[in-house]
Amino acid sequence: METTLHISDTPQQVAADFASFISKIAENRAINIALSGGSTPEIVFDSLASDYKDQINWRKIHFYWGDERCVPPDNEESNYKMTNDHLFNLINIPKENIHRIKGESDPKIEVQRYAQEIAKNVRSENGFPVFDLVILGLGDDGHTASIFPDQLNLIDSTEITEIAIHPVTGQKRITLTGTVINNAKLITFLVTGANKKAKFTEILRKSGDWESYPATYISPTNGELHWFTDIEIN
Ligand code: 6PG
Repeated sequence: METTLHISDTPQQVAADFASFISKIAENRAINIALSGGSTPEIVFDSLASDYKDQINWRKIHFYWGDERCVPPDNEESNYKMTNDHLFNLINIPKENIHRIKGESDPKIEVQRYAQEIAKNVRSENGFPVFDLVILGLGDDGHTASIFPDQLNLIDSTEITEIAIHPVTGQKRITLTGTVINNAKLITFLVTGANKKAKFTEILRKSGDWESYPATYISPTNGELHWFTDIEIN
């Protein structure tokens, strides 16, 4: 597994550098991207909408999510709403290219429906869908997507998607499994802020409690892993 570190000075520069990275991947080929929620992706979407509105052929990109909160699409906690507000409403993208997780539905039904939508539209390798790019964040507790430390079994699940439960709020989520995330061609972490330094360092150095963090187990089977961050590991 090839791991590449991209270190920028500020979260805004991380977002700009990552937006540039996406623009190069998206160069006029049909790709499937799984998005993340979170504060850093939010500034990435702002950067894409402002600097690449006309430079990227959005008609070629199909957007999915790595995870979604089980809330309606107009709820402030919805990852879909955040992406809509910061990107989709500002670019020319066909509605059929947006494959949102229906957070308003019964999680037991939506977890199957979303998996079927992915299986139908995203090519498979090794028996699982292959995303061209999966964008991830790193939670303060070391979670990624919605795979939390007390649900490490979702990393190796043989399903495409699973229902997760936020360990503090009890909020239900739909998440891609680690199996599908690790099947991607490109996996990128967006990690900014001093509050992430300790976990980020432990994961990269395989030190401290790294084995208890779900993000530790994100390791592409046949792809590349890139970290975009403003954190210097000294
Ligand atoms: C979510 C995200 C989650 C996020 C991390 C980091 O739905 O909450 O997918 O995995 O990426 O919690 O979030 P921040 O970048 O806001 O710290």
